[in-house]
Amino acid sequence: MTTHRAHCLILPYPSQGHINPMLQFSKRLQSKGVKITIATTKSFLKTMQELTTSVSIEAISDGYDDGGRDQAGSFVAYITRFKEVGSDTLAQLIKKLANSGCPVNCIVYDPFLPWAVEVAKDFGLVSAAFFTQNCAVDNIYYHVHKGVLKLPPTQDDEEILIPGFSCPIESSDVPSFVISPEAARILDMLVNQFSNLDKVDWVLINSFYELEKEVIDWMSKIYPIKTIGPTIPSMYLDNRLPDDKEYGLSVFKPMTNECLNWLNHQLISSVVYVSFGSLAKVEVEQMEELAWGLKNSNKNFLWVVRSTEESKLPKNFLEELKLVSENKGLVVSWCPQLQVLEHKSTGCFLTHCGWNSTLEAISLGVPMLTMPQWTDQPTNAKLVKDVWEMGVRAKQDEKGIVRREVIEECIKLVMEEEKGKMIKENAQKWKELARKAVDEGGSSDKNIEEFVSKLVTISS
Ligand code: UDX
Repeated sequence: MTTHRAHCLILPYPSQGHINPMLQFSKRLQSKGVKITIATTKSFLKTMQELTTSVSIEAISDGYDDGGRDQAGSFVAYITRFKEVGSDTLAQLIKKLANSGCPVNCIVYDPFLPWAVEVAKDFGLVSAAFFTQNCAVDNIYYHVHKGVLKLPPTQDDEEILIPGFSCPIESSDVPSFVISPEAARILDMLVNQFSNLDKVDWVLINSFYELEKEVIDWMSKIYPIKTIGPTIPSMYLDNRLPDDKEYGLSVFKPMTNECLNWLNHQLISSVVYVSFGSLAKVEVEQMEELAWGLKNSNKNFLWVVRSTEESKLPKNFLEELKLVSENKGLVVSWCPQLQVLEHKSTGCFLTHCGWNSTLEAISLGVPMLTMPQWTDQPTNAKLVKDVWEMGVRAKQDEKGIVRREVIEECIKLVMEEEKGKMIKENAQKWKELARKAVDEGGSSDKNIEEFVSKLVTISS
Protein backbone atom coordinates (compact mmCIF):
# COMPACT_ATOMS: atom_id res chain seq x y z
CA MET A 1 0.00 0.00 0.00
CA THR A 2 1.29 3.47 -0.86
CA THR A 3 1.18 6.09 1.90
CA HIS A 4 0.97 9.82 1.24
CA ARG A 5 3.62 10.76 3.72
CA ALA A 6 6.20 13.44 2.85
CA HIS A 7 9.46 11.70 2.01
CA CYS A 8 12.74 13.61 1.63
CA LEU A 9 15.76 12.11 -0.04
CA ILE A 10 18.79 13.83 1.47
CA LEU A 11 21.95 13.98 -0.66
CA PRO A 12 24.97 15.33 1.24
CA TYR A 13 28.45 15.80 -0.20
CA PRO A 14 30.26 12.83 1.36
CA SER A 15 32.40 14.40 4.07
CA GLN A 16 31.95 14.72 7.80
CA GLY A 17 31.55 18.53 7.77
CA HIS A 18 28.76 18.30 5.18
CA ILE A 19 26.86 15.23 6.28
CA ASN A 20 26.56 16.16 9.97
CA PRO A 21 24.56 19.38 9.50
CA MET A 22 22.27 17.61 7.01
CA LEU A 23 21.79 14.75 9.43
CA GLN A 24 20.81 17.14 12.23
CA PHE A 25 18.39 18.88 9.88
CA SER A 26 16.98 15.47 8.91
CA LYS A 27 16.30 14.67 12.56
CA ARG A 28 14.28 17.89 12.86
CA LEU A 29 12.27 17.03 9.73
CA GLN A 30 11.69 13.52 11.03
CA SER A 31 10.44 14.85 14.37
CA LYS A 32 7.79 16.73 12.38
CA GLY A 33 6.61 13.57 10.62
CA VAL A 34 8.67 13.56 7.41
CA LYS A 35 10.17 10.28 6.25
CA ILE A 36 13.90 10.61 5.62
CA THR A 37 16.29 8.63 3.45
CA ILE A 38 19.91 9.71 3.31
CA ALA A 39 21.75 8.79 0.10
CA THR A 40 25.50 8.55 0.36
CA THR A 41 28.32 6.90 -1.52
CA LYS A 42 29.33 3.27 -1.03
CA SER A 43 32.85 4.24 0.00
CA PHE A 44 31.63 6.81 2.50
CA LEU A 45 29.08 4.43 3.93
CA LYS A 46 31.96 2.27 5.17
CA THR A 47 33.13 5.10 7.46
CA MET A 48 29.63 5.58 8.81
CA GLN A 49 29.30 2.29 10.62
CA GLU A 50 29.11 3.86 14.04
CA LEU A 51 26.43 6.30 13.12
CA THR A 52 23.56 5.89 15.56
CA THR A 53 20.46 7.22 13.94
CA SER A 54 16.95 6.18 13.18
CA VAL A 55 16.97 7.59 9.64
CA SER A 56 17.46 5.13 6.78
CA ILE A 57 20.61 5.29 4.73
CA GLU A 58 20.97 4.05 1.14
CA ALA A 59 24.05 3.77 -1.06
CA ILE A 60 24.65 5.42 -4.41
CA SER A 61 27.90 5.42 -6.37
CA ASP A 62 30.40 8.20 -7.01
CA GLY A 63 32.32 5.97 -9.42
CA TYR A 64 34.97 5.29 -6.78
CA ASP A 65 33.37 2.61 -4.65
CA ASP A 66 36.62 1.41 -3.07
CA GLY A 67 38.37 4.62 -2.08
CA GLY A 68 36.04 7.57 -2.75
CA ARG A 69 37.67 10.98 -2.92
CA ASP A 70 41.17 9.60 -2.18
CA GLN A 71 40.93 7.13 -5.04
CA ALA A 72 40.07 9.93 -7.48
CA GLY A 73 43.34 11.79 -6.98
CA SER A 74 42.02 15.31 -7.37
CA PHE A 75 38.92 16.97 -6.08
CA VAL A 76 37.93 18.12 -9.57
CA ALA A 77 38.29 14.59 -11.00
CA TYR A 78 36.16 13.31 -8.14
CA ILE A 79 33.37 15.83 -8.63
CA THR A 80 33.31 15.24 -12.40
CA ARG A 81 32.95 11.45 -12.15
CA PHE A 82 30.50 11.74 -9.27
CA LYS A 83 28.22 13.74 -11.56
CA GLU A 84 28.30 11.07 -14.29
CA VAL A 85 27.84 8.03 -12.09
CA GLY A 86 25.91 9.70 -9.26
CA SER A 87 23.07 10.94 -11.50
CA ASP A 88 22.32 7.41 -12.70
CA THR A 89 22.57 5.70 -9.36
CA LEU A 90 20.49 8.40 -7.66
CA ALA A 91 17.82 7.89 -10.32
CA GLN A 92 17.88 4.12 -9.67
CA LEU A 93 17.44 4.74 -5.97
CA ILE A 94 14.43 7.01 -6.55
CA LYS A 95 12.84 4.26 -8.71
CA LYS A 96 13.50 1.67 -6.01
CA LEU A 97 11.95 3.90 -3.32
CA ALA A 98 8.93 4.53 -5.57
CA ASN A 99 8.04 0.87 -5.04
CA SER A 100 8.61 0.97 -1.30
CA GLY A 101 5.12 2.15 -0.41
CA CYS A 102 6.24 5.69 0.41
CA PRO A 103 7.69 7.36 -2.71
CA VAL A 104 10.14 10.25 -2.52
CA ASN A 105 8.66 13.67 -3.20
CA CYS A 106 11.56 15.99 -2.43
CA ILE A 107 15.34 15.97 -2.86
CA VAL A 108 17.39 18.03 -0.41
CA TYR A 109 20.84 18.18 -2.00
CA ASP A 110 24.22 19.70 -1.26
CA PRO A 111 24.93 22.31 -3.97
CA PHE A 112 28.44 20.85 -4.36
CA LEU A 113 26.37 18.31 -6.37
CA PRO A 114 24.17 20.63 -8.48
CA TRP A 115 23.25 17.86 -10.95
CA ALA A 116 20.78 16.57 -8.32
CA VAL A 117 18.37 19.32 -9.44
CA GLU A 118 18.16 17.76 -12.92
CA VAL A 119 17.46 14.34 -11.41
CA ALA A 120 14.69 15.87 -9.29
CA LYS A 121 13.18 17.53 -12.38
CA ASP A 122 13.30 14.26 -14.37
CA PHE A 123 11.14 12.63 -11.69
CA GLY A 124 8.87 15.65 -11.13
CA LEU A 125 10.15 16.06 -7.55
CA VAL A 126 10.57 19.32 -5.70
CA SER A 127 14.13 20.24 -4.75
CA ALA A 128 15.89 22.16 -2.02
CA ALA A 129 19.56 23.17 -2.02
CA PHE A 130 21.15 22.84 1.41
CA PHE A 131 24.14 25.15 1.87
CA THR A 132 26.26 23.88 4.76
CA GLN A 133 28.11 27.19 4.98
CA ASN A 134 26.75 30.53 6.17
CA CYS A 135 24.90 33.05 4.04
CA ALA A 136 27.75 35.60 3.99
CA VAL A 137 30.12 33.07 2.41
CA ASP A 138 27.47 31.92 -0.06
CA ASN A 139 26.87 35.57 -0.94
CA ILE A 140 30.55 36.03 -1.80
CA TYR A 141 30.53 33.02 -4.14
CA TYR A 142 27.28 34.33 -5.65
CA HIS A 143 28.99 37.62 -6.47
CA VAL A 144 31.92 35.81 -8.06
CA HIS A 145 29.37 33.81 -10.09
CA LYS A 146 27.74 37.05 -11.25
CA GLY A 147 31.12 38.54 -12.17
CA VAL A 148 30.53 41.41 -9.71
CA LEU A 149 33.40 40.44 -7.46
CA LYS A 150 36.69 40.32 -9.30
CA LEU A 151 39.68 39.31 -7.26
CA PRO A 152 42.45 39.46 -6.31
CA PRO A 153 42.32 43.20 -5.69
CA THR A 154 45.22 45.30 -6.88
CA GLN A 155 46.27 46.31 -3.37
CA ASP A 156 46.42 43.89 -0.53
CA ASP A 157 44.58 46.07 1.93
CA GLU A 158 42.00 47.46 -0.47
CA GLU A 159 38.51 47.44 1.00
CA ILE A 160 35.92 45.40 -0.85
CA LEU A 161 32.24 46.27 -0.68
CA ILE A 162 29.89 43.38 -1.32
CA PRO A 163 26.16 44.03 -1.59
CA GLY A 164 24.42 42.46 1.39
CA PHE A 165 27.58 42.28 3.47
CA SER A 166 27.24 44.30 6.65
CA CYS A 167 30.76 45.76 6.57
CA PRO A 168 33.59 46.34 4.11
CA ILE A 169 36.05 43.47 3.89
CA GLU A 170 39.66 43.08 2.85
CA SER A 171 41.21 40.47 0.61
CA SER A 172 42.39 38.60 3.73
CA ASP A 173 38.71 38.14 4.70
CA VAL A 174 37.43 36.46 1.54
CA PRO A 175 37.41 32.67 1.13
CA SER A 176 40.89 31.49 0.12
CA PHE A 177 39.72 29.90 -3.13
CA VAL A 178 38.58 33.30 -4.37
CA ILE A 179 42.02 34.87 -4.11
CA SER A 180 44.29 31.91 -4.77
CA PRO A 181 45.01 31.47 -8.52
CA GLU A 182 45.98 27.80 -7.94
CA ALA A 183 42.47 27.09 -6.72
CA ALA A 184 40.71 28.30 -9.87
CA ARG A 185 39.08 24.93 -10.58
CA ILE A 186 37.81 24.54 -7.04
CA LEU A 187 36.42 28.06 -7.25
CA ASP A 188 34.68 27.08 -10.49
CA MET A 189 32.98 24.27 -8.63
CA LEU A 190 31.93 26.57 -5.75
CA VAL A 191 30.60 29.15 -8.15
CA ASN A 192 28.80 26.41 -10.07
CA GLN A 193 26.60 25.92 -7.00
CA PHE A 194 24.61 28.86 -8.36
CA SER A 195 24.45 27.68 -11.98
CA ASN A 196 20.97 26.18 -11.68
CA LEU A 197 19.87 27.57 -8.33
CA ASP A 198 17.05 29.49 -10.01
CA LYS A 199 15.38 26.11 -10.69
CA VAL A 200 15.10 24.98 -7.06
CA ASP A 201 12.06 25.36 -4.84
CA TRP A 202 13.96 26.26 -1.66
CA VAL A 203 17.44 27.33 -0.61
CA LEU A 204 18.16 26.14 2.92
CA ILE A 205 21.03 27.76 4.82
CA ASN A 206 22.83 26.33 7.82
CA SER A 207 22.61 29.52 9.86
CA PHE A 208 19.91 31.49 11.68
CA TYR A 209 18.20 34.72 10.75
CA GLU A 210 19.25 36.78 13.77
CA LEU A 211 22.91 36.03 13.07
CA GLU A 212 22.96 37.24 9.46
CA LYS A 213 19.87 39.42 9.03
CA GLU A 214 21.29 41.85 6.50
CA VAL A 215 22.78 39.35 4.07
CA ILE A 216 19.80 36.99 4.40
CA ASP A 217 17.37 39.81 3.60
CA TRP A 218 19.50 40.73 0.61
CA MET A 219 19.79 37.21 -0.79
CA SER A 220 16.12 36.47 -0.11
CA LYS A 221 15.28 38.93 -2.87
CA ILE A 222 17.02 36.60 -5.32
CA TYR A 223 16.43 33.10 -3.95
CA PRO A 224 13.75 31.45 -1.79
CA ILE A 225 16.04 31.37 1.26
CA LYS A 226 15.19 29.63 4.51
CA THR A 227 17.61 29.52 7.42
CA ILE A 228 17.25 26.31 9.39
CA GLY A 229 20.16 26.30 11.87
CA PRO A 230 22.06 25.98 14.01
CA THR A 231 22.26 22.32 13.03
CA ILE A 232 23.76 20.95 16.20
CA PRO A 233 22.01 18.24 18.21
CA SER A 234 18.87 19.42 19.92
CA MET A 235 20.21 18.27 23.31
CA TYR A 236 22.65 21.23 23.21
CA LEU A 237 19.99 23.74 22.20
CA ASP A 238 16.23 23.47 22.67
CA ASN A 239 16.26 19.84 23.90
CA ARG A 240 12.98 19.09 22.12
CA LEU A 241 13.97 15.92 20.28
CA PRO A 242 13.45 13.21 22.89
CA ASP A 243 15.65 10.50 21.41
CA ASP A 244 18.34 12.87 20.18
CA LYS A 245 21.57 10.96 20.64
CA GLU A 246 25.08 12.42 20.57
CA TYR A 247 26.47 13.85 17.42
CA GLY A 248 26.17 12.22 14.01
CA LEU A 249 29.25 11.01 12.31
CA SER A 250 32.85 11.11 13.36
CA VAL A 251 35.41 9.47 11.13
CA PHE A 252 37.75 9.82 14.11
CA LYS A 253 37.32 8.23 17.53
CA PRO A 254 36.58 10.61 20.41
CA MET A 255 38.50 10.00 23.66
CA THR A 256 35.54 10.96 25.77
CA ASN A 257 36.62 10.08 29.26
CA GLU A 258 40.18 11.30 29.11
CA CYS A 259 39.24 14.82 27.95
CA LEU A 260 36.21 15.23 30.12
CA ASN A 261 37.91 13.84 33.23
CA TRP A 262 40.76 16.25 32.67
CA LEU A 263 38.37 19.18 32.20
CA ASN A 264 36.53 18.17 35.38
CA HIS A 265 39.71 18.94 37.33
CA GLN A 266 40.15 22.44 35.92
CA LEU A 267 38.80 25.74 37.22
CA ILE A 268 35.73 27.37 35.70
CA SER A 269 36.41 29.11 32.34
CA SER A 270 40.15 28.53 32.75
CA VAL A 271 40.97 26.28 29.77
CA VAL A 272 41.92 27.15 26.20
CA TYR A 273 40.49 24.51 23.86
CA VAL A 274 42.45 24.28 20.59
CA SER A 275 41.33 22.53 17.41
CA PHE A 276 41.79 22.98 13.67
CA GLY A 277 39.01 20.64 12.59
CA SER A 278 39.18 17.54 10.45
CA LEU A 279 41.13 18.73 7.40
CA ALA A 280 43.52 21.64 7.96
CA LYS A 281 47.23 20.88 7.74
CA VAL A 282 49.16 23.27 9.96
CA GLU A 283 52.75 24.10 8.96
CA VAL A 284 55.53 22.81 11.21
CA GLU A 285 56.69 26.34 12.02
CA GLN A 286 53.14 27.35 12.92
CA MET A 287 52.79 24.31 15.14
CA GLU A 288 55.88 25.29 17.07
CA GLU A 289 54.72 28.89 17.51
CA LEU A 290 51.36 27.61 18.68
CA ALA A 291 52.96 25.29 21.22
CA TRP A 292 55.08 28.08 22.69
CA GLY A 293 52.25 30.59 22.61
CA LEU A 294 50.06 28.20 24.61
CA LYS A 295 52.84 27.46 27.09
CA ASN A 296 53.69 31.15 27.54
CA SER A 297 50.06 32.16 28.08
CA ASN A 298 50.16 30.29 31.40
CA LYS A 299 46.68 28.97 30.76
CA ASN A 300 45.84 25.30 30.85
CA PHE A 301 44.98 23.94 27.44
CA LEU A 302 43.34 21.02 25.70
CA TRP A 303 44.79 20.67 22.21
CA VAL A 304 43.45 18.39 19.47
CA VAL A 305 46.30 17.31 17.21
CA ARG A 306 45.12 14.73 14.68
CA SER A 307 47.41 11.70 14.42
CA THR A 308 48.46 12.78 10.90
CA GLU A 309 49.69 16.09 12.40
CA GLU A 310 51.34 14.71 15.52
CA SER A 311 54.87 14.52 14.12
CA LYS A 312 54.84 18.31 13.72
CA LEU A 313 54.67 18.90 17.49
CA PRO A 314 57.92 20.11 19.05
CA LYS A 315 59.80 17.05 20.32
CA ASN A 316 58.70 15.94 23.80
CA PHE A 317 56.68 19.14 24.02
CA LEU A 318 54.45 18.14 26.89
CA GLU A 319 56.99 16.10 28.85
CA GLU A 320 59.91 18.50 28.58
CA LEU A 321 57.91 21.50 29.58
CA LYS A 322 56.46 19.59 32.56
CA LEU A 323 53.03 20.36 31.24
CA VAL A 324 51.92 16.82 32.01
CA SER A 325 53.20 16.59 35.57
CA GLU A 326 51.72 19.97 36.41
CA ASN A 327 48.48 19.00 34.65
CA LYS A 328 48.68 22.13 32.51
CA GLY A 329 48.21 20.66 29.06
CA LEU A 330 46.52 17.72 27.39
CA VAL A 331 47.04 16.80 23.74
CA VAL A 332 44.58 14.34 22.20
CA SER A 333 44.04 13.14 18.65
CA TRP A 334 40.29 13.80 18.67
CA CYS A 335 37.70 14.77 21.28
CA PRO A 336 33.93 15.05 21.69
CA GLN A 337 34.00 18.73 20.74
CA LEU A 338 30.45 19.63 21.67
CA GLN A 339 30.91 18.26 25.18
CA VAL A 340 34.20 20.11 25.47
CA LEU A 341 32.68 23.41 24.34
CA GLU A 342 29.77 22.92 26.70
CA HIS A 343 32.05 22.15 29.66
CA LYS A 344 32.20 24.83 32.35
CA SER A 345 36.02 24.75 32.43
CA THR A 346 36.34 25.81 28.79
CA GLY A 347 36.96 29.56 28.60
CA CYS A 348 38.25 30.12 25.09
CA PHE A 349 38.19 28.25 21.78
CA LEU A 350 41.30 28.70 19.65
CA THR A 351 39.78 27.67 16.32
CA HIS A 352 40.48 27.51 12.58
CA CYS A 353 36.90 28.81 12.14
CA GLY A 354 35.47 25.94 10.10
CA TRP A 355 31.76 26.72 9.90
CA ASN A 356 30.68 23.75 12.02
CA SER A 357 33.10 24.67 14.80
CA THR A 358 32.13 28.34 14.62
CA LEU A 359 28.43 27.56 14.78
CA GLU A 360 29.00 25.17 17.68
CA ALA A 361 30.92 27.86 19.60
CA ILE A 362 28.16 30.38 18.89
CA SER A 363 25.48 27.92 20.03
CA LEU A 364 27.34 27.11 23.24
CA GLY A 365 28.46 30.69 23.96
CA VAL A 366 32.23 30.13 23.88
CA PRO A 367 34.51 33.12 23.10
CA MET A 368 36.83 32.48 20.17
CA LEU A 369 40.41 33.18 19.24
CA THR A 370 40.49 32.67 15.48
CA MET A 371 43.36 31.41 13.33
CA PRO A 372 41.73 30.79 9.93
CA GLN A 373 43.66 28.53 7.55
CA TRP A 374 41.86 28.34 4.20
CA THR A 375 38.52 28.02 2.35
CA ASP A 376 35.61 29.87 4.09
CA GLN A 377 37.51 30.24 7.36
CA PRO A 378 38.87 33.81 6.84
CA THR A 379 35.33 35.09 6.21
CA ASN A 380 34.01 33.30 9.28
CA ALA A 381 36.84 34.80 11.35
CA LYS A 382 35.98 38.28 10.10
CA LEU A 383 32.36 37.82 11.15
CA VAL A 384 33.32 36.45 14.57
CA LYS A 385 35.56 39.42 15.30
CA ASP A 386 33.86 42.40 13.66
CA VAL A 387 30.20 41.54 13.22
CA TRP A 388 29.27 39.21 16.08
CA GLU A 389 32.07 40.56 18.30
CA MET A 390 32.55 37.29 20.10
CA GLY A 391 36.23 36.78 19.48
CA VAL A 392 39.56 38.13 18.30
CA ARG A 393 41.67 37.21 15.29
CA ALA A 394 45.36 36.40 15.66
CA LYS A 395 47.32 38.36 13.08
CA GLN A 396 49.78 36.59 10.79
CA ASP A 397 53.22 37.99 9.97
CA GLU A 398 54.38 38.57 6.40
CA LYS A 399 55.28 34.84 6.14
CA GLY A 400 51.71 33.91 7.00
CA ILE A 401 52.64 32.61 10.46
CA VAL A 402 50.99 33.68 13.71
CA ARG A 403 53.84 34.18 16.17
CA ARG A 404 53.89 32.96 19.77
CA GLU A 405 53.72 36.49 21.25
CA VAL A 406 50.55 37.20 19.26
CA ILE A 407 48.94 33.96 20.40
CA GLU A 408 49.84 34.65 24.03
CA GLU A 409 48.55 38.21 23.83
CA CYS A 410 45.27 37.15 22.17
CA ILE A 411 44.61 34.44 24.76
CA LYS A 412 45.08 36.99 27.54
CA LEU A 413 42.85 39.46 25.73
CA VAL A 414 39.99 36.97 25.54
CA MET A 415 40.43 35.46 28.99
CA GLU A 416 41.63 38.28 31.21
CA GLU A 417 41.15 41.76 29.90
CA GLU A 418 38.25 44.19 29.75
CA LYS A 419 37.67 43.41 26.06
CA GLY A 420 37.28 39.77 27.04
CA LYS A 421 34.29 40.69 29.25
CA MET A 422 32.50 42.29 26.31
CA ILE A 423 33.28 39.25 24.17
CA LYS A 424 31.89 36.92 26.86
CA GLU A 425 28.70 38.96 27.13
CA ASN A 426 28.23 38.84 23.37
CA ALA A 427 28.91 35.11 23.34
CA GLN A 428 26.11 34.62 25.88
CA LYS A 429 23.79 36.79 23.79
CA TRP A 430 24.42 34.73 20.64
CA LYS A 431 24.01 31.48 22.55
CA GLU A 432 20.58 32.59 23.69
CA LEU A 433 19.57 33.73 20.20
CA ALA A 434 20.77 30.44 18.67
CA ARG A 435 18.63 28.44 21.08
CA LYS A 436 15.60 30.67 20.47
CA ALA A 437 15.96 30.29 16.67
CA VAL A 438 15.38 26.52 16.80
CA ASP A 439 13.04 26.48 19.78
CA GLU A 440 9.28 26.42 19.22
CA GLY A 441 8.21 29.49 17.22
CA GLY A 442 11.79 30.66 16.59
CA SER A 443 12.94 31.85 13.17
CA SER A 444 14.49 28.52 12.08
CA ASP A 445 11.70 26.46 13.65
CA LYS A 446 9.10 28.47 11.71
CA ASN A 447 11.06 27.98 8.48
CA ILE A 448 11.26 24.23 9.05
CA GLU A 449 7.51 24.12 9.87
CA GLU A 450 6.72 25.99 6.67
CA PHE A 451 8.98 23.68 4.62
CA VAL A 452 7.30 20.60 6.12
CA SER A 453 3.78 21.89 5.61
CA LYS A 454 4.51 22.57 1.91
CA LEU A 455 5.90 19.04 1.58
CA VAL A 456 2.82 17.61 3.23
CA THR A 457 0.58 19.54 0.83
CA ILE A 458 2.55 18.24 -2.16
CA SER A 459 2.41 14.63 -0.99
CA SER A 460 -1.29 14.45 -0.14
C1 UDX B 1 35.48 21.73 6.54
C2 UDX B 1 36.19 23.06 6.22
O1 UDX B 1 37.54 23.01 6.59
C3 UDX B 1 35.48 24.20 6.87
O2 UDX B 1 36.13 25.42 6.59
C4 UDX B 1 34.07 24.26 6.35
O3 UDX B 1 33.38 25.34 6.95
C5 UDX B 1 33.37 22.93 6.64
O4 UDX B 1 34.12 21.86 6.09
P1 UDX B 1 36.45 21.10 9.07
O5 UDX B 1 37.78 21.64 8.75
O6 UDX B 1 36.39 19.72 9.50
O7 UDX B 1 35.39 21.36 7.88
O8 UDX B 1 35.92 22.07 10.21
P2 UDX B 1 34.51 22.25 10.89
O9 UDX B 1 33.51 22.74 9.91
O10 UDX B 1 34.75 23.12 12.04
O11 UDX B 1 34.07 20.80 11.38
C6 UDX B 1 34.77 20.07 12.31
C7 UDX B 1 33.79 19.17 13.04
O12 UDX B 1 34.53 18.18 13.72
C8 UDX B 1 32.97 19.92 14.07
O13 UDX B 1 31.64 19.49 14.01
C9 UDX B 1 33.58 19.50 15.39
O14 UDX B 1 32.66 19.41 16.46
C10 UDX B 1 34.14 18.15 15.08
N1 UDX B 1 35.32 17.86 15.92
C11 UDX B 1 36.48 18.54 15.72
C12 UDX B 1 35.20 16.89 16.88
O15 UDX B 1 34.15 16.31 17.06
N2 UDX B 1 36.30 16.61 17.62
C13 UDX B 1 37.49 17.23 17.46
O16 UDX B 1 38.44 16.89 18.18
C14 UDX B 1 37.58 18.24 16.47
